[in-house]
Amino acid sequence: MIFTDLLNGKTADKPPVWIMRQAGRYLPEYRELRKSANNFIDFCLNPEKACEVTLQPIRRYDFDASIIFSDILLVPHAIGREVKFIPGTGPILTKLNSVDELSLPDFDEFQNFLKPVADAIKLTRGKLPEQTALIGFSGAPWTLMTYITEGAGSRDFNFARDWLWSKPKESEKLLHHLAEYVVSFLTLQANAGANVLMLFDSWAGAVPASQRGRVITSLHKKIIADLRSSGIHLPIISFPKGLSEGLKEYSEEVDIQALALDHYVDRRWAAENLRSDIVLQGNLDPLCLVSGGDVMRREVNEILEIFASRRHIFNLGHGIVPQTPPEHVTELLALIRA
Ligand code: CP3
Repeated sequence: MIFTDLLNGKTADKPPVWIMRQAGRYLPEYRELRKSANNFIDFCLNPEKACEVTLQPIRRYDFDASIIFSDILLVPHAIGREVKFIPGTGPILTKLNSVDELSLPDFDEFQNFLKPVADAIKLTRGKLPEQTALIGFSGAPWTLMTYITEGAGSRDFNFARDWLWSKPKESEKLLHHLAEYVVSFLTLQANAGANVLMLFDSWAGAVPASQRGRVITSLHKKIIADLRSSGIHLPIISFPKGLSEGLKEYSEEVDIQALALDHYVDRRWAAENLRSDIVLQGNLDPLCLVSGGDVMRREVNEILEIFASRRHIFNLGHGIVPQTPPEHVTELLALIRA
């Protein structure tokens, strides 16, 4: 598997490629199957459907990696925060105002609730081409905490940041509980046959820089240490989105095999300044892929050139957006694989 070989230290002639949110609404075959379930959580927790949707982009594009179809908000849901996806609005959760309001499941109950994800992984691994890696994933504690304390997605994260400043002990408690469930969820996916694990800290950029150590770095370290001490040695890709210059310290402290870069990171700076033994993943702007054509060709060539001197996985800087023409993805792959 060139994807896992690269993560485990080998070099590759051409960068392997996959796309965040590659199974999703830009694909007509996804939209068609999505109609068969009115509730997104039920859709994620249906192993046959989750397997089918995971395979769709692989059939169409033969990416080097697939990512199991599920969602980071399954964890809040599994610990008793009701999650609803409202079309056009995004996710809505029961907003947490204090840690005392939590009534947490034990880890057996938690894993039992998420067993359909493990079943989807087993099913998918059995059907994927042998050379295609399967990525299991979880949201990281901070990003999960934002949804739990905001009760929805957010632009400014005022409630979550208020927790950090005015309820430091409660925040610590919530983040540590979440870290334990994250470990449990990743363990479930590793045991089911995932080949790689990925940690999404999509809103890491909303953490005040002076609190990055306790809210991001130390929790990621703990999650990885717990996985390693329980014998899980799969490669780990981390996506602490928005950390900008903080990526240097982060990557020096956290023992990851790959760092996913968003499209706001100066890629030349990243290629020259980040630990040379880790793989860098990224970082085409998803909107550049919507444009396609010459602007995309120029940008893709720049990415290939800048990362040519290091181990690199080609990806976007964030998830592919629904308005992306599927044929632009075909064109992108042709450029990278030429
Ligand atoms: O192909 C894949 O990447 C696998 C599946 C996947 C989904 N969500 C499916 C999904 C993955 C890896 C995620 C991760 C995820 N989910 C993140 C982290 C990555 C990132 O993009 O930052 C976050 C923050 C979420 C939370 C989430 N899920 C939101 C905010 C939304 C609604 C907004 C939106 O984009 O529609 C979702 C819903 C969701 N998750 C959809 C899909 C395909 C769309 C729902 C639908 O089909 O109706």
